[in-house]
Amino acid sequence: MDLEGGGLGGTSVTGKVLIFDTTLRDGEQTPGVSFTPEEKLQIARQLARLRVDVIEAGFPAASPGDLEAVRRIALEVGGTTVCALARAREEDIRAAWEAIRYAEKPRIHVFIATSDIHLRYKLRLSREEVLERAREMVAYAKSLCPDVEFSPEDAARTDPAFLHEVLEAVIDAGVTTINIPDTVGYAIPSEFAELIRGIVERVPGIDRTVISVHCHDDLGLAVANSLAAVAAGARQVECTVNGLGERAGNAALEEVVMALTVRKDLFGIEIGIETSQIARTSRMVSTISGVAIPPNKAIVGANAFAHESGVHQDGVLKERTTYEIIDPRAVGLTHSELVLGKLSGRHALRERLQKLGYELSDEELDRVFARFKELADVKEVSEADLEAIVADELYRPPEVYRLEQVQVVCGDKGIPTATVALRAPDGRILVDSNHGTGPVDAVYRAINRIVGEEPRLIAFSIKAITGGLDAIGEVSITVESPDLKGKSGKTRIFSGQGASTDIVVASAKAYMNALNKLLAAKGGG
Ligand code: KIV
Ligand code: ZN
Repeated sequence: MDLEGGGLGGTSVTGKVLIFDTTLRDGEQTPGVSFTPEEKLQIARQLARLRVDVIEAGFPAASPGDLEAVRRIALEVGGTTVCALARAREEDIRAAWEAIRYAEKPRIHVFIATSDIHLRYKLRLSREEVLERAREMVAYAKSLCPDVEFSPEDAARTDPAFLHEVLEAVIDAGVTTINIPDTVGYAIPSEFAELIRGIVERVPGIDRTVISVHCHDDLGLAVANSLAAVAAGARQVECTVNGLGERAGNAALEEVVMALTVRKDLFGIEIGIETSQIARTSRMVSTISGVAIPPNKAIVGANAFAHESGVHQDGVLKERTTYEIIDPRAVGLTHSELVLGKLSGRHALRERLQKLGYELSDEELDRVFARFKELADVKEVSEADLEAIVADELYRPPEVYRLEQVQVVCGDKGIPTATVALRAPDGRILVDSNHGTGPVDAVYRAINRIVGEEPRLIAFSIKAITGGLDAIGEVSITVESPDLKGKSGKTRIFSGQGASTDIVVASAKAYMNALNKLLAAKGGG
């Protein structure tokens, strides 16, 4: 690995790197993704099990709903720092403090842009005004909270001399972490490392703070830039699960963590992450966000540990390390084993789920148990199957309409026709039928007739959870509603996932999840 065009460039790399997870804040800025407070809490609990050092829970000034979600995480999730984002404005900082003040370890994260391009076109402020505002707002945040992080937005495109001046000012004002964002994913590893090295060498007082980095993936370099920055002295990396985030996303947590773990020989860095929770966290975030994981995604993609060529298979059978640099168990991927048979009871199921890290209420266990029994009647149930059922049952968005029944008639000679029954918000069961180009299209058209919506399907993918013809299929879809615009004026998009051994049912569930989000956004929830 050539991080800076010369190994680690002679830099002495020691200490611990803090993992700052921003899935619930920057990750939520992924097009089509919007978490409910309940979903945020579930993800935050899982992030605590993963032992991330900091959870950026949200941007409380953005909406009362986000403030409430951050407050619940602050109150209910312990063992990790809970951070809230604020623009460099008093009202944002007050909202952030309001949301996190009761956390075990609260942090306020203040940001303001520093690049000339942002100053001229977005903020319409001079450099002097930005410097003053940064100093004043960090001092204000510090008067409320001992732990304050500051980000000069678009730092990678900021004049380094001005950047150093701003950093010196916020250090004087008491900042504890300096975060250097590559907001638009513009940097190249060698130059980003140089930027960090310049800060380490030239900013007075920098040794009293932790240097953090926050890289976006527009050029596919977010992880490489983050690692180059660690080699140059950064000691916190901001990232998201599955690399969710604005546009091409943020540095993927699982990639940063596993690179630092697998190449500890090179970095010599400690991290506090419980890596065996990675697969579960990735799966939960994918299901709740509705954003599917590409099969070739590093660490958590379905093919990340699959060996296709005969030569590779032969090598792995003889000695795993010939073609595997990571033991799949290290990221929580256990081999699919028979866990429970069809005679197993609720108690055995609860115990097994607890072993997998899931604490379910009685009502949740009832739902999962019913699904487990259905599956156990037709196939052996593996741990992966159980996790898919839990995800499908528990991580659903709030239901406006509930899918009750799906029935299709299809084949190469007939006209694909579907009949669907939905439970309406007032409890009535509504039934309708329609035809389409295929069974899934027919189901979606029948649902549209009942609900009175015609969202446009913009992405559809399906994958098998385990091998074999009896595998559970998981469908991920994205829809857009032309008459629903976001704040920026762009059409809003909504994602959903569904799992079933019947792929038409899985497709219907995924559609209902996306549609229910759309209906809730329209105020129908
Ligand atoms: O990308 C960015 O600059 C950010 C800041 C708010 C840290 O997300
Ligand atoms: Zn960002």
